[in-house]
Amino acid sequence: MAPTTMTTMPPPGPPPSNRDIPSPSSDSGPDTGTTTEALPESPSTSGAAAGAVKPAPSGATPILTPNTAAPLPAPAVPRNTLDTATTVGAKTPSGTNGAALQLVTFEGLRRDPLVQAFIKRADVQLGILGYTEHGQRHTSLVANIARNILQRLGYPERTCELAAIAGYLHDIGNCVSRRDHATAGALMAKDVLLGNGMAIEEVAVVMGAIGNHEETTGDPVGEISAALNIADKADVHRSRVRETNPAKFDIHDRVNFASQHSFVRVDGETKRVELEMSIDTKIASLMEYFEIFLNRMVFIRRAVKFLDCEFRLTINRNRML
Ligand SMILES: [Fe+2]
Ligand SMILES: [Fe+2]
Repeated sequence: MAPTTMTTMPPPGPPPSNRDIPSPSSDSGPDTGTTTEALPESPSTSGAAAGAVKPAPSGATPILTPNTAAPLPAPAVPRNTLDTATTVGAKTPSGTNGAALQLVTFEGLRRDPLVQAFIKRADVQLGILGYTEHGQRHTSLVANIARNILQRLGYPERTCELAAIAGYLHDIGNCVSRRDHATAGALMAKDVLLGNGMAIEEVAVVMGAIGNHEETTGDPVGEISAALNIADKADVHRSRVRETNPAKFDIHDRVNFASQHSFVRVDGETKRVELEMSIDTKIASLMEYFEIFLNRMVFIRRAVKFLDCEFRLTINRNRML
């Protein structure tokens, strides 16, 4: 694979697009390496929980013992499982647990009103709490960068698409609370994705990635998780600063505002991931930058290592790591 690059520079206005690589076709088949296993035809009928039946007297109707239930009927269609007998996209009764299997895409989620409401409210609340921008700009950018990282490294298209989905949903937990937002977000994403008909194996992978995206509590737990962590922590840019009065900047505002250029360069040939930044040191010193972002850089380096690549950090053309 030829060396290629990607940018994390956010554009003004609408959410960023995938600049370097055309979006994968939304009808490409699942290719995640996950196993395909259908649910059993019917639940276990052993034990009281399944509804023990007393032998009925001759000629009488059998009766159930107290506090037991009759065995449930088998589901009419496989529920959110990668069953090859199921037609993807077939119209069947929907619902969180009974949704027809669908190939869920990043673009599809961008049209989901529930997702939009979560992202919008999460961003509003973080604004109230004094955090930088976490809305459509950040989430769409992280989605595209996460996807690009795996594409550059030659992962299957469906794996790259799941990275984009995890990137887009990764901060919705802030809608509940900033604290533990990774865990909350993973659980919220589960409902969203099952409701959209995603295969349960894919849902589980996305949940793990979202639940592990914070450097204080998370670890890279897979290639999608690693790509998400790199993309998220690389988004340091002046356009994320909400405060318009520089006199009121705190250190986070100052460091983000000082960042004029941020660029993730991935070379699939040499297996190297490089974060290139341009920082206006008249606004924030490198010391301030590292004071805020050292833990994030370490987190990125761990994620890059998980992808079996070498990490480099360059600031103002000087190689730091
Ligand atoms: Fe987050
Ligand atoms: Fe984030």
